[in-house]
Amino acid sequence: MVTYALLTNPGHNRVYYEESKKLAAGELQLALTKLSISCSDVKSDYIAGVHYVVFSASDDLSEEDIAVIGMLSFVYAIFEIKKTRGLILLLPIMKINNRYIDENIGTILKYTGKTNELFTRMMINIALFCSDFSHLNQIRLLDPVAGKGTTLFEGLVFGYDVYGIEIGEKIVSEAYHFLKKYLETEKYKHTVKTEKVSAPDKAFKVIRHSFDIAKTKEEQKGGNLKHVELIAGNSANTDKFFKKNFFHLIVGDLPYGVQHGNVTNEKQSSLTRNPKELLNACLPAWYRTLMNGGTLVLSWNLLVLPRENMVSLLNKSGFTVIDGDSLMNFRHRVDRSINRDIVVAKKTRR
Ligand SMILES: C[S@@+](CC[C@H](N)C(=O)[O-])C[C@H]1O[C@@H](n2cnc3c(N)ncnc32)[C@H](O)[C@@H]1O
Repeated sequence: MVTYALLTNPGHNRVYYEESKKLAAGELQLALTKLSISCSDVKSDYIAGVHYVVFSASDDLSEEDIAVIGMLSFVYAIFEIKKTRGLILLLPIMKINNRYIDENIGTILKYTGKTNELFTRMMINIALFCSDFSHLNQIRLLDPVAGKGTTLFEGLVFGYDVYGIEIGEKIVSEAYHFLKKYLETEKYKHTVKTEKVSAPDKAFKVIRHSFDIAKTKEEQKGGNLKHVELIAGNSANTDKFFKKNFFHLIVGDLPYGVQHGNVTNEKQSSLTRNPKELLNACLPAWYRTLMNGGTLVLSWNLLVLPRENMVSLLNKSGFTVIDGDSLMNFRHRVDRSINRDIVVAKKTRR
């Protein structure tokens, strides 16, 4: 048996204090099912007064295993625990650098309504581990309520092709200008296209920004590109913007019904404080654009929509909600008006 200790990211702790430990353990439980060796005994522990998440493994972690552990949102450093003559020694394990783009891309923008980037990374990982696609390198990820793009930037960090739909035109424009500037400053090779897309029956007209990104000229010439797309439009039209069965993962942080309303009908500009209306309008389109074996992961405010109502809306739209033990432990308090939970739903072959 080998025992590992994961030092938790201080950024994660600052936001949810005590609750982050429970979220970390939940994310790790899911990741362990993807490793090449069998692991058990996940627990929170303090070593010399510092918090770690500890687990046991049947053997040494392989390089691929270390890469998976290093993707987890809370992992700051990985140690093997050695016990010698009554002493506890922490042996540092070299992390694998599997980032496509620097993690700072998700931290630079600060604004009201932003979803914490580490929480977002956790949701993406949960979606990946619960999908049939965790072995793939080429992942297409959609955030259908994208805001200024936290999910897209976190997806890009791991080299995914990322797509976002956001109803606020100004918000999309800010995200577009931020990414363009970032790629220029960091000297990524890229091409950008902005176009207006309308429905054949003129039911909608949206702006679509697309980026094709490469790290080097050679990669660009060889067509080794990462794709980013931002659409300023209503997510209820997701299946009009994208092909059927297109996305491996859909991940979104729904409007909380607190600071900002969620618009489900552009014409009436109907603002609602409850995401139920948004889900009713969008879930059928999200279902159609998700691949079989793909997962939808949503976070939302339990104070405006109880979990059983969320589950029933998802089931009604054809999704299978996955609610094993390790997936029931993600609910946490953000502040007085937000009690947040995560739901994982899969599109299964029927
Ligand atoms: C909680 S915020 C997401 C924040 C985002 N994760 C970020 O960090 O920037 C929810 C977003 O959903 C958007 N939204 C609400 N209804 C929408 C709809 N029908 N279609 C597309 N976006 C919508 C809101 O404008 C808001 O920006």
